[in-house]
Amino acid sequence: MSYMVMGVSGSGKSTVGKLLAQRLGLHFIDADDHHLAPSVEKMSQGIPLTDEDRQAWLQKLNHLLLEAERTNQEVVLACSALKEQYRQVLRQNLTLPLKIIYLHGEERVLRHRMRSRQGHFMKDVLLASQLATLEIPADALRVDITHPPEQIVEQIIQFTTAMHPSSTTGTTASFGIIGLGVMGKSLALNLAGKGITVGVYNRTVPGVEEKVAERFAEEHPQQPLVPFSDMDRFVQALEKPRRILLMVKAGKPVDLLLEQLHPLLEEGDLVMDGGNSHYLDTNRRTIEMHNHRLHFLGVGISGGEEGALKGPSLMPGGEREGYQKVADLLEKLAARDQRGVPCCTYIGPQGAGHFVKMVHNGIEYAEMQALAEAYQLLRFHLNFSPAAIAEEFTAWQSSGLNSYLLEITIAILQKQEDGGLLLDKILDAAEQKGTGGWSTTAALDLGASLDPIAAAVMARYLSAQKEQRVQAAALYGILPEQLVGVPLLHAQQLRQAYEAVRLINHAVGFELIRQASRQYLWHLNLSEIARIWTNGCIIRSELMEELTELLQEETPLLQHPRVVERMSGLLLAFKETVAAGLKANAAQPVFSSALNYFLGYTTAQSPANLIQAQRDFFGAHTFRRVDQPLDQSFHVEW
Ligand code: 6PG
Repeated sequence: MSYMVMGVSGSGKSTVGKLLAQRLGLHFIDADDHHLAPSVEKMSQGIPLTDEDRQAWLQKLNHLLLEAERTNQEVVLACSALKEQYRQVLRQNLTLPLKIIYLHGEERVLRHRMRSRQGHFMKDVLLASQLATLEIPADALRVDITHPPEQIVEQIIQFTTAMHPSSTTGTTASFGIIGLGVMGKSLALNLAGKGITVGVYNRTVPGVEEKVAERFAEEHPQQPLVPFSDMDRFVQALEKPRRILLMVKAGKPVDLLLEQLHPLLEEGDLVMDGGNSHYLDTNRRTIEMHNHRLHFLGVGISGGEEGALKGPSLMPGGEREGYQKVADLLEKLAARDQRGVPCCTYIGPQGAGHFVKMVHNGIEYAEMQALAEAYQLLRFHLNFSPAAIAEEFTAWQSSGLNSYLLEITIAILQKQEDGGLLLDKILDAAEQKGTGGWSTTAALDLGASLDPIAAAVMARYLSAQKEQRVQAAALYGILPEQLVGVPLLHAQQLRQAYEAVRLINHAVGFELIRQASRQYLWHLNLSEIARIWTNGCIIRSELMEELTELLQEETPLLQHPRVVERMSGLLLAFKETVAAGLKANAAQPVFSSALNYFLGYTTAQSPANLIQAQRDFFGAHTFRRVDQPLDQSFHVEW
């Protein structure tokens, strides 16, 4: 394959073309050396060339290219080739491909460059006419000229060799992403922005998803993105061992894709699933891929679109050996914590990464619901306007409660549309994709308590039954009662209650992780998990910073002396808030279940002895006695 580096005067064609030829060991032709004398004269006087002036010159260059082809010589030609018709003349009768590299630059950059070069016949007054003549080729590789020539050349080589894997230069894409939804695209741009060549592939669904990867790469011409619609070619273009991240819908699509992908891969290649997959599926896939002699990682990714683009929190789980093959890139991709350490760490074996991401989402559900309940109390029971709630929440931010979710809630409360609050136009029926519910099921399976998180999941389901709720509201006529002026509740107490709810929510979430770690022998590091949640992810917060430290100890969070002191100080306001809210007809699933959990957790003598007696009464299920050794069971004839 030969190359033509084109662009207007000042774009650096000669420099880049020469360097490219050197790097690839090809012959270099500079079109400027072949202008006829009258044309050089005209240009030195600042007179633009006409189509006619250029005709003989283009023919001459075409002959040089044909001659090179005849002698089996590949070349790099640097030529302005401004119009499509000029390029047609240049390509006339060539049989081998001529890859066009278009050097793109802003007018002011070009002008500056032209002014600073000496001894060249081209005057900068000609630049305007060149830009007016330029017809940007649709089939070219477009490269931004602001980078240094060496980097431009590297980029050209990476692109072209990945697109033509049979090329002998051997350079390919370092990382592959399959699935170009919002998250896939953002992650690709994140890595590409750090100079990593990313091969991107998207499936083709006729009439629905066509040339998605190609269009994506075209929209970002200055990024080292190499697009494919053919999976085979995509795989071939990746550096070995291959590192491929799947960003497709969780569930069956992941299995279908792995079926398609594994025969194309070689021993030691690595596939990562970056979706919100169920950890049990990830356990199974790890074994299946291991049997194909491939590494597999389930990578929890949090941070939404913005996080993916600027740096998400990454929770990779699976074989450690697999992680080591990609640690460098994942750590580059991730957000940084306060000390500049990547918010990415090897979580543990099998589906541990996806398990941890699932619990992250469970905590996220309860955090969101807690904020919704606080908003509801303030707005409908304490008479705060949305703006006043935003102000109140802003004050909470600077009193130790800062979090990303609180931050976006403030912004939501300020968002206007057509002179009204946008929030008021949003249907009050929450949706979910499953991770909160999976956390709840996992807690049931592992025998852990997860009250506020489970309550948040159920609250979403109840909210979705809009029609029934409207009917029931009419039937019962229960309306929000005002708590304004009533000494029972004021915003400061609510703030304290919210703080307590958050501590409990995080405590149960981390306890669930601890349970899983024990039962699955995953040896998870809770403090490290909290650390990678301090930035990039949706539940990042000031509290998470503190938990990183508190979780260094084995003590359950709610028994840590610092938390005991804090919870003790918050308890009264917490109870008053829940009591007042319930009395005033405000449903508070997360606030109240967190309080219930806490009161149950701190009760030394529970009424469960009665449950045991009942079980034994009707079913002879036996019970243990406090006045006998605990490894013995008893039954009585009631
Ligand atoms: C994240 C988010 C992300 C997703 C949620 C939404 O950490 O970046 O949690 O994974 O937006 O899963 O989940 P629901 O649709 O279930 O609310």
